[in-house]
Amino acid sequence: MEAVPVDRMAEKVSTPFYCYSAAAIRGRIGLCQSAFEAIGATIHYAVKANSNLAVLGLMAEAGLGADIVSEGELVRALQAGIEPRTIIFSGVGKRRAELLAALDAGIFQFNLESLPELEQLADLCRTRGCTANVSIRVNPEVDAATHRHITTGVKGSKFGIPIEQMASALNLIAASDGLQLHGLAVHIGSQIVEPEPYRRACRRLRRWVFDMRAQGHAINHLDLGGGFGIDYGDGRCLDYRAVAAVMEQELGDLAVQIAVEPGRSLVAEAGLLVSEVVYRKEVEPVPFLILDAGMNDLLRPALYQATHQLVTLKEPDGVPEICHVVGPVCESSDTFLRQVSLPQIAAGERVALLHAGAYGAVMASGYNSRDIIPEVMVSGDHYTLVRRAVSYRDLMAYELPE
Ligand SMILES: Cc1ncc(COP(=O)(O)O)c(C=O)c1O
Repeated sequence: MEAVPVDRMAEKVSTPFYCYSAAAIRGRIGLCQSAFEAIGATIHYAVKANSNLAVLGLMAEAGLGADIVSEGELVRALQAGIEPRTIIFSGVGKRRAELLAALDAGIFQFNLESLPELEQLADLCRTRGCTANVSIRVNPEVDAATHRHITTGVKGSKFGIPIEQMASALNLIAASDGLQLHGLAVHIGSQIVEPEPYRRACRRLRRWVFDMRAQGHAINHLDLGGGFGIDYGDGRCLDYRAVAAVMEQELGDLAVQIAVEPGRSLVAEAGLLVSEVVYRKEVEPVPFLILDAGMNDLLRPALYQATHQLVTLKEPDGVPEICHVVGPVCESSDTFLRQVSLPQIAAGERVALLHAGAYGAVMASGYNSRDIIPEVMVSGDHYTLVRRAVSYRDLMAYELPE
């Protein structure tokens, strides 16, 4: 990892642990900025992908804004030095207290996802005597052909306001003194590897912008969300410049400010989950490698049947074998790789699961009374523990036995 041998870190920080490269994150930020700033778009890092304060610090250092979905993410973003006036608040279930915290912080924009949420924010603005910039998150009914658990923009999805309710949303905004209509927002899904779904979403937005302007509404802002796919090993990924080009082609003449909310694509490739093989279970027909990392540390394979490639930390030797790679958690879904060809790996050897920087540590839990594992940030030839382990003892200390 940069100039630090992962084995050396593993001797100090016991496995399993997450390890991120600051240079890799900065590299991705640079690519994203050169693609989207070239079309005049603003970038709001989707904090949910990896909310470690050290990661957010890199986003703040580069001047990125944030896309948040909770008060906790708001507080993290602010503490990391992200400017409140660059923060967008997304999410289908923002509670009153969370809306209030964001109003108090003076964030840039609320993306509203339902009529009751719109009424709630209007009510808060009235009682507070303040105003809020709002965009309507519309369900664009675009199928981005990604995994069904990360598809968000199709009919019947819980996200966004259905187009049939757009007129009611606009009426509610017009009737409120506090809500100021900024524009429209969409997010069509995650791990999208083709630019075409973005083109379809842009075309829908374009039509709605014309319709809404014709009705006298000022639409000055379009938020295209995130979802840019990375290469998890099958060679398929989305180039930032390709999406930016689509946005420019489809929306460039509308005189709107475009925003994007990338999460995964800024951090996934910069992260490893370092683990040790606890046992080799020699069974027919396929042996198991049982790791000390489990689904409670990295949920994506169990949650979305996602694949993370595995590498050994020492030079591979011998003939490759077919094996299953599993974790120790008492669930059959605690399986990282099925029927995979790997070099012979003995018990006690260390391995790393690749591309684990996004939707990894943030989804960790203490299931099976396991520790929440530490996170390490490497920069050049040194590394820093950026989150210590939260042990099962720490978690037990919050319980209140009678
Ligand atoms: C509204 C919104 N914006 C941005 C993102 C970030 O998506 P990704 O990490 O795929 O870029 C998400 C992810 O679910 C989201 O829901």
